[in-house]
Amino acid sequence: MSNLNRAEQPIGIFDSGIGGLTVVRAIKDLLPKEDLFYLGDTARLPYGNKDRLTIERYSLEIAGLLTAEGAKLVVVACNTASALALPRLHEVFRIPIIGVIESGARAAVAHSRNRRVGVIGTRATVASRAYERAIQTIDPAVTVLSQACPLLVPLIEEGMFDHSVTIEMLHHYLDPLIAERIDTLVLGCTHYPLLKKTIAGVVGDEIVLVDSAENCAGQVVEVLRDGGLENRAERPGYLEVALTDSSNPFFKTADRVLELNISRVQTRIVQGVTLAATPVVP
Ligand code: DGL
Repeated sequence: MSNLNRAEQPIGIFDSGIGGLTVVRAIKDLLPKEDLFYLGDTARLPYGNKDRLTIERYSLEIAGLLTAEGAKLVVVACNTASALALPRLHEVFRIPIIGVIESGARAAVAHSRNRRVGVIGTRATVASRAYERAIQTIDPAVTVLSQACPLLVPLIEEGMFDHSVTIEMLHHYLDPLIAERIDTLVLGCTHYPLLKKTIAGVVGDEIVLVDSAENCAGQVVEVLRDGGLENRAERPGYLEVALTDSSNPFFKTADRVLELNISRVQTRIVQGVTLAATPVVP
């Protein structure tokens, strides 16, 4: 396929669930002409407390589905999948695959003045130390203080964005990082941008919040431009959403809060996609 034809293909985006729609919002803001195909693996959510092999397998299956849909580029909108499965995805697929860790790490290093950076995420993301490695590859002098926040995703999924229980949990997780004098905090989970205002209220003005969704979208712009893959169509791009389970009520909250106006959601099965079917190379 020529680069001109490939440019007209959609960007494939996936997450363990609905939270990756924060990345979709950020990409739509920067690239309104791009067609987007989003897969939320709601049937197998959460990824954040699973092991590497499982997360790799799920990610390979979904990236296979997205390439079969003709994706010109795949965005791993899930922090957990980016932290644990990105190297394996790069081994298997030849199209560009972007995760959220590298851009978040770059932004954190750029913002931090005192070189003390906090990272919050799921248990799997924090245990993988992927942010720590990425940040210290850029600047080995940065001290990274990480905190797993397993209770935040369920609170966000319940729409309890500024509930007193959420604020209490945020203090529980963040006060130790504040005491360690971090000046930058990476929101290392797809869901956390939905909590940005509440987190800002808890940590105060002195700590810069790095939103992995926004920074990842910036990297998508760079990769499309460098590869000559920008869609130049004179119309707004479409957004197609597929979920592996349709029962999650959080979808409606996310759609409303992020103002995506998703009209149709399809249900797709990814389980059972074999590796033989995945490496579709354009
Ligand atoms: N999408 C996941 C992440 O960004 C959070 C939800 C989950 O645990 O699957 O890490």
